[in-house]
Order: sequence, then C-alpha cells, then structure tokens
Amino acid sequence: MSKTRLTSSNGAPVADDNNSISAGARGPLTFDNHYLFEKLAHFNRERIPERVVHARGTGAYGSFTLSKNLDHLTIAKFLQESGQKTEVFVRFSTVGGGQDSSDYARDPRGFAIKFYTEEGNFDLVGNNTPVFFLNDPIKFPDFIHSQKKDPRTNLPNPSNMFEFWANHPQSLHQMTILMSDRGIPASYRQMHGFGSHTLSFWNQAGERVWVKWHLKSNQGIATLTNEEAEKMPSHGAQADLIEAIDKGDFPSWTVKLQVMTEKEALNYAINPFDLTKIWPHKDFPLIEVGQLELNRNVDNYFAETEQAAFAPSNLIPGIGASPDKMLQGRLIAYQDAHRHRVGTNFNSIPVNAPRCPMNTYQRDGAFAGMCPYSGKPSFQGSEANFYPNDRGEQGAAVPDSSVSAPAMPLLEDAWVGYHSQEQEDYYTQAGDLFNLMDEVQKQQLVANIVGGLSQANSSIQARMIEQFSLADRDYGKRVKRALEDG
Ligand code: HEM
Repeated sequence: MSKTRLTSSNGAPVADDNNSISAGARGPLTFDNHYLFEKLAHFNRERIPERVVHARGTGAYGSFTLSKNLDHLTIAKFLQESGQKTEVFVRFSTVGGGQDSSDYARDPRGFAIKFYTEEGNFDLVGNNTPVFFLNDPIKFPDFIHSQKKDPRTNLPNPSNMFEFWANHPQSLHQMTILMSDRGIPASYRQMHGFGSHTLSFWNQAGERVWVKWHLKSNQGIATLTNEEAEKMPSHGAQADLIEAIDKGDFPSWTVKLQVMTEKEALNYAINPFDLTKIWPHKDFPLIEVGQLELNRNVDNYFAETEQAAFAPSNLIPGIGASPDKMLQGRLIAYQDAHRHRVGTNFNSIPVNAPRCPMNTYQRDGAFAGMCPYSGKPSFQGSEANFYPNDRGEQGAAVPDSSVSAPAMPLLEDAWVGYHSQEQEDYYTQAGDLFNLMDEVQKQQLVANIVGGLSQANSSIQARMIEQFSLADRDYGKRVKRALEDG
C-alpha cells in the first residue's frame, strides 16, 4: 500500500477515486461531487492548440561543448573558451502533418535548439536543409496552406503543392532537396541540421560577421524511399530517439560555422541573405566549433516537449539577426504563436525559462508565477513594476548598454516599398544540386516529382518542366519524359 495520499488539486486528500457520490446505489449523482466535477473539467481542458506547423515532434535535453575559442568573433558568453559546456533542449519535427501524422512524411524536418546560456536563451530554430522554399515571409501562410490538407476534402493534395511551386520558382532548390533521395530521413538521429538563415556575431570591438550554422550528424545520414517509409510505424522516429537515449547511445552532431565578413557580403555574387541559396563551401569553408549531444529524455512529453516555445527572436548579446527578410518575419511570428498556443507567460514554464535571472518589468497575465530557476517571483514580486525608478540601490533591474549590438548599415540606396525578388537566379543552385546526383539518385528524384506532378493539370506540369529545364536541360527532359510515359 502506497504512503502517498491522492489529493484533489487544492491538495486535499481524496477518499474515493473509483465511485462518484450518488443518492443510493442505483440513484443519481449529487452536487457534492466537486472532486468529480474538477476531474471532468480539467480533462476537458487537457489540450492546447497544436503548432500550426511542426505539430508532430519529439524533444530531448543535452549539451553543447565548444571546441574552439570564438571570442574574436562574438561576445556570446557560451562561445568564449574551448571546453565550455552549455545545456540545450532540442526538438525535432516534421512540418506539414498534424500531431498524429507519420514521422516518415516526405517533408523537411525541424531541428530546433534552445541553448540555455548564462546571458539568456539562444534559440537556433532550423531545419534539416540549408535552404528554404521562400525568401519573403509574406508567402509563408500561402505556402503552408498549399502543402497542408485540401480545404474541401481534408486530404493531402499534391496538385495544390505543385500549383504553388509552379507559381514560385524560388522554391525550386528546396523542392529538389525534398524530392531527392534525402527527402525522408530514416530517423532524427541520422540527419544533419542547419540554422539555414544568415545570423550574425559581433565582438568586443563592435565588429560584425555574418554566420551560418551547420550540424553534421555523427551517426551518418540514412534515408528511406517512399516504399520503405510506408512500411514504418508512424511514431518510429520518436521511438528511435527515446530508445537510443534511454540505453545510453547518445546521438551527437559536429557543429560547424560558415563566416562571411560584412565587406565580403557587399561584394559577393549571391545575395547572402536570400534563404533560397547556400553559401558555397569552397568560398566559405565550414569551421568546426563544437559538439552537440543529446543525453536525457523528457520526464513528461506535454510539459516539456509540447510546451517548448522556440523563437528565432531569442537572441543573446553577441548573436544577432541579419537583413534576411524571412528571418525578420520569423522574429515576430513565433512569440505571437506562443502567446496563442501556450499563454503570455510561456517563458516561466521550466523548459522555456532561462537558467539565469529573468528580471523584467512585465507583470501579471495568466499563470504568472515563480521563475523556476531563480526561485524568485518572476512577474509578481513586491519589487518595482515600472522603469525608470529610484530603487537601483535595492537591486532594481537596469539596462546594460554594453550589450547593445553595433548599428547595422542599410546595404543599398534603400527606398521603402515593395521590392520584387523575381529577377533573382533560382535555377543555378538547383541545377548544381541535380548534377551532384548519381544516376540512381536522379531517377529517384524524377520518380518522386512525377508521383505528385502527374496529379496536377497540364498548365502546372508545363510550368514545372520549364523550371526544371532552366535548372538543367537534362532535369527538365527527364521529368517531361517520365510524365509522358505515365
Ligand atoms: C516567415 C517564415 C516562417 C514563419 C512565419 C514560421 C512560423 C512558424 C510558427 C508559427 C511555428 C509554430 C511555433 C509554435 O507554435 O511553437 C513554427 C515552428 C517551427 N518553424 Fe517556422 N516559420 C517560418 C519559417 C521557418 C523556417 C525558414 C524554418 C527553418 C529554417 C522554420 C523552422 C521551424 C521549426 C523547427 C519549428 C518548430 C519549433 C519547435 O520545435 O517547437 N520555420 N514556424
């Protein structure tokens, strides 16, 4: 017999958790069933909205160990001296499916990392691909609608996907990756990660460099064909990660950076802030800076993984954004999503709370409580709730101008208005990727494309063939032939 007494949520011991109180053995229930009412009411509220994208995922804790001093590039406290170790929480996900969809969809995989640093949380909210389908955030809702279920049938609709892509050549590079043999990772452990965007570092002297983050899987890459994926259990990737960590087979990634100076960016042939493009490694080689390891599963999936709130705006002194238009859109979108999905005080939930003091003048809101790490009231103490105030001597929080980022110059003769990116070259890098593939990979790519494109109308097919041909004539020819052959 357990010595732990069952209680209701006010802490009072519960006498009976099997029988409701009723008027006689065969009689109706009575109004003093407040414990039953509490139980049913709480049950009704167990769900929060699922993420509008990346709904299906799994997370784990671990550490990032720096292997190279980066103090010449950044003042970020966790990137100063080789050997420094920082706790992380990582969540992997698919993008388009709902919470109960398959782990093995042909879909990019999210690779979101929260670094709990001593100067706040830095979130690298990336994917398993170095580029994305878009380079303007205004297209994001349209793109996602086209990839999700059809509004009438609530079924996947490949024709909608290709209708979007036919109208958006900026997607061609990422779509070529998605349709390639790399489009379905065999597990979350066996895929690379990318910050994808261009972020920035700045150092003590106020010098800024542009930075791209890469994570190379130490487990190697493994992928599935459509046929193999269909045979997998829908929760397989989640189970694989949990089991590996539980048995001490900790997955890890080698962390690398590409670095570009502000001057190099001005003169580089490719727009370094265009998320549809990579920075060729021959021009900007990968520099190894550390190891990321996952070594602890969550105790409670909902409390930790489901309530995890990652945001590209979670930046820290020494790490900043860039003029990348997509990144700018994301700086706004995520915190807004968290307020809707988790609530305004999402940052006081343990998985999201910084492991350093959180001294804000923000107050109140639903579930205002204690900061789980400092043990101080995070939102409702008796301390001053306005700034400036006369209580500096008593420890009231003040801004620290030494952490302000260097001013960012505008990169062109900047006129405020709509600036079309239609004239960008969206074909060369897609063609280069096609030409890196061997014969078997090219055949897989074409078969995967034609599987969906054959369901679209002839106008969509013609525009897609034109895009493939502009990337590489052989790419276009192969898709055309495969469509004709049925
Ligand atoms: C303007 C473009 C984008 C918008 C507006 C956008 C918006 C969102 C939103 C609203 C969520 C759900 C957040 C939540 O409820 O917690 C989300 C999740 C996510 N997004 Fe984006 N997204 C964009 C582009 C991207 C790109 C380019 C990447 C990767 C390079 C990315 C990676 C992720 C990841 C990994 C998650 C899941 C985070 C987690 O595990 O909780 N997104 N996105």
